[in-house]
Amino acid sequence: MGKYNPPHVLTNEDLEKRIDTSDEWIRTRTGIEERRIADDDTNTSDMAFEAAKEALASAEIRPDQIGLILVATVTPDYTFPSVSTMIQERLGAKNAAAMDVSAACAGFIYGVVTAKQFVEAGTYDYVLVVGVEKLSKITDWEDRNTAVLFGDGAGATVVGKVSEGRGILSFELGADGSGGKHLCHREFIEMNGREVFKFAVRQMGESALSVTEKAGLTKDDVDYLVPHQANIRIMEASRERLGLPIEKMSKSVHKYGNTSAASIPISLTDDLAEGRVKDDDVIVLVGFGGGLTWGALCIKW
Ligand code: ACO
Repeated sequence: MGKYNPPHVLTNEDLEKRIDTSDEWIRTRTGIEERRIADDDTNTSDMAFEAAKEALASAEIRPDQIGLILVATVTPDYTFPSVSTMIQERLGAKNAAAMDVSAACAGFIYGVVTAKQFVEAGTYDYVLVVGVEKLSKITDWEDRNTAVLFGDGAGATVVGKVSEGRGILSFELGADGSGGKHLCHREFIEMNGREVFKFAVRQMGESALSVTEKAGLTKDDVDYLVPHQANIRIMEASRERLGLPIEKMSKSVHKYGNTSAASIPISLTDDLAEGRVKDDDVIVLVGFGGGLTWGALCIKW
């Protein structure tokens, strides 16, 4: 795993000075205290490149060993070339095919599941998956309904073969296009917060439980939960559904906000670095997002 968080911190107090909101409102409704915002010279591909470099180094994989690069993002630098081709060049991953994946906040899970298919089929030895967003460039900073929620960042992983009984035990992917109207990007992000909230609370719990059962396990077998870091109340609902104690849930929303496709790999990278996830732990990753889309993975680490 690897990640990149831009250095610039935007606190709730900073937002209080710009829009009609309060630190108290943001904390109690979302759990967010601050978020990272990329500067004008740092685009999506720059953050993706940094996270990818770190993931390759931690996996001890050379760029030329990568067969495919998948970048999950809804904020690419350009419509084309894709972010994946841009980082293919910068990494020197000369043997890699490259494409972007658009599934909003569920994009990283979609990317990892796609990577798994190629690795299992024996097509590629290693697939690099990056979740990255520069949401600040599609956020209306005058709209208090959305401006307080989002942040920028990138997280990455290398998917390859592991020994029998480890790795991805089960997955679930889903979509409901009829809910697309509740969360979309025209000029800026537009959101019906209440509808998204209701959907997310239900779906996150159901998917977390569903992948656990598909893996032939019960709630008691799950050691750790990494939910999409959108809102602490939504995350809590999925934790309660699995009956896990609070310390068994990944939590970084307070310091990074909602970084969409990047939130799960960023949070998991921190968990690994800080010893909250260890070898042989059973972990559940679960996300939801615009589309509407959702996805979950059960992994023996
Ligand atoms: N500061 C102060 N007041 C605010 C703010 C703010 N930043 N934003 C909204 N309000 C006000 C509204 O104007 C409204 O006031 P009104 O009742 O007078 O009209 C009120 O607060 C809204 O209250 P609720 O709707 O009860 O707020 P709720 O508890 O639903 O929380 C929230 C709102 C945080 C947006 C919640 O609905 C939520 O988290 N939804 C899910 C959002 C989400 O996760 N989106 C990301 C999806 S991931 C992706 O694909 C990018």
